[in-house]
Amino acid sequence: MVNLGDVFPDFEAETNKGPIKFHQFLGDSWGILFSHPADYTPVCTTELGRVAQLAPKFAERNVKMIALSIDSPESHNGWIKDIQSYCSLKGDFPFPIIADDKRELAVKFGMLDPDEVNAQGIVLTCRAVFIIGPDKKLKLSLLYPATTGRNFDEILRVIDSLQLTAKYKVATPVDWQSWSKVMVVPSVKPEEFKTLFPQGVEVAKVPSGKGYIRKTDAPK
Ligand code: BEZ
Repeated sequence: MVNLGDVFPDFEAETNKGPIKFHQFLGDSWGILFSHPADYTPVCTTELGRVAQLAPKFAERNVKMIALSIDSPESHNGWIKDIQSYCSLKGDFPFPIIADDKRELAVKFGMLDPDEVNAQGIVLTCRAVFIIGPDKKLKLSLLYPATTGRNFDEILRVIDSLQLTAKYKVATPVDWQSWSKVMVVPSVKPEEFKTLFPQGVEVAKVPSGKGYIRKTDAPK
């Protein structure tokens, strides 16, 4: 397993678009590596179609996308035609899919869902998401079971939070959206407000009298 803050290990893999070396594939970009249980399954078809529709939004955020399942490159290429047809997508499919048919990466990175097996009794991959920063360190991981499709608009929201909080000493509160206020992180001292947040800081009054809820406009 890779923990938050660890360098996500480099690896070589086959994809439907040819072999890759993961770190070289990422270059200086952010990255999202996400797995799905199997090609030619319904929820996965809706998920990969949605990610393909959102590809320009990942590109705007400088995030390279790559998917993974335990199927072969030929299977991925056949299934992509179904995804494009079902989700009304045209042109080149915007991201490669790793063919982890020996399940080496799935095992190494803890991506298996023991509750889901295929017709041959083989345990399938879960719906894992790993977001990796330009420093190659793991910034976020999510594991969903095979039976629950993910919300990739939420994943874009999370990327906005990760990218903002990587630059400024702020944290994003519940249900945060890019236009709403952010919280000053606890390690910032009040005497630093003027320099770090010239836009101003509001400190909420709470019964404890402790001024720990400190809101500001998102720095630009
Ligand atoms: C699906 O993608 O629909 C799916 C795959 C494996 C188990 C359950 C659902």
